[in-house]
Amino acid sequence: MTSLLETKGLRIYFSSPRGDVRVVEEVDLHVDQGEIVGLAGESGSGKSTLALGVMRLIGTPGRIAGGEIRFNGTDILALKPDEFRVQYRWSKLSMVFQGSMNGFTPVFTIGSQIQEVLKIHGHETSELAVRKLLQMVELDESIAVRYPHELSGGQKQRAFIAMALALDPQLLIADEPTTALDVITQAKIMNLLKRLRTEMGISILLITHDLALLSEAVDRLYIMYAGRVVEDGPSNSLFAKPKHPYTQGLISSTPTLKTEQIRGIPGFMPDLANPGEMCSFSLRCPFVMEVCKTERPRLGKVDGGEEVACWLY
Ligand SMILES: Nc1ncnc2c1ncn2[C@@H]1O[C@H](COP(=O)(O)OP(=O)(O)OP(=O)(O)O)[C@@H](O)[C@H]1O
Ligand SMILES: [Mg+2]
Repeated sequence: MTSLLETKGLRIYFSSPRGDVRVVEEVDLHVDQGEIVGLAGESGSGKSTLALGVMRLIGTPGRIAGGEIRFNGTDILALKPDEFRVQYRWSKLSMVFQGSMNGFTPVFTIGSQIQEVLKIHGHETSELAVRKLLQMVELDESIAVRYPHELSGGQKQRAFIAMALALDPQLLIADEPTTALDVITQAKIMNLLKRLRTEMGISILLITHDLALLSEAVDRLYIMYAGRVVEDGPSNSLFAKPKHPYTQGLISSTPTLKTEQIRGIPGFMPDLANPGEMCSFSLRCPFVMEVCKTERPRLGKVDGGEEVACWLY
């Protein structure tokens, strides 16, 4: 079966005076039709960069340095920028950006900003179209005539999701859609995303560092560390029996999943301009062995449909 979204060996680098900073390195990931897939990892692991790469929104000093991105089998990196913009971005794959709830222009009403998106892409811009979109994200239609500052954080986030859904995309990438919201509002936004999948068949790539949130919502997930996927698999087996020491550390750093004392993972990520040949996690790993310091483990299949990149397996 062709995946809706598939990346193969994707690399995204930023040039710097110290050389290329390898923010995304050899990432293979796929999202199938109707799936909700999670992407997790601590701050700076490259999650947003990966998502922006998929939307072809990486600007200088960054670049896609290698690999493939396929959407429904089409190699979207081979398309001319205009072709991608007109045929794909926002219409087939769409994104709710990290911090997007602060992304509305303060001087225009929510309704007019949603209409603008529809207009730019040649869609019907009637008030009815806006009302339908607001309804889809469970917002009252009166929101249309309000200004961004008149909305709560949760309402703004919903309005932004409505805008991302305006062109009826097949894939929605939601980058930290609930950060900065209280837990109850977080849960409501997650329920909304799940409903979009069941009722509209939208596939979702959900990015967050909040594992508790992911454990409730996703079918499968990828764990990223220092630009690479270190573990992936079905969410139930991954949460029940995390294999990679990094995933284990992340889970025990999640307060809502374990009530015991939160451990955290001491140490820092390696220098992405100079990653060397070692396992990127070897500097922080409680189980580090000699081989980890000289040779990078590749992702390999283990029980339960999972893959893990670790010399322990
Ligand atoms: N324009 C840029 N120039 C140089 N480096 C960049 C640029 N944008 C991102 N990076 C680097 O890429 C790395 C990954 O950033 P990214 O925003 O993708 O992480 P993230 O996993 O989304 O983190 P968070 O959880 O904090 O959102 C960071 O170390 C950052 O310094
Ligand atoms: Mg991010």
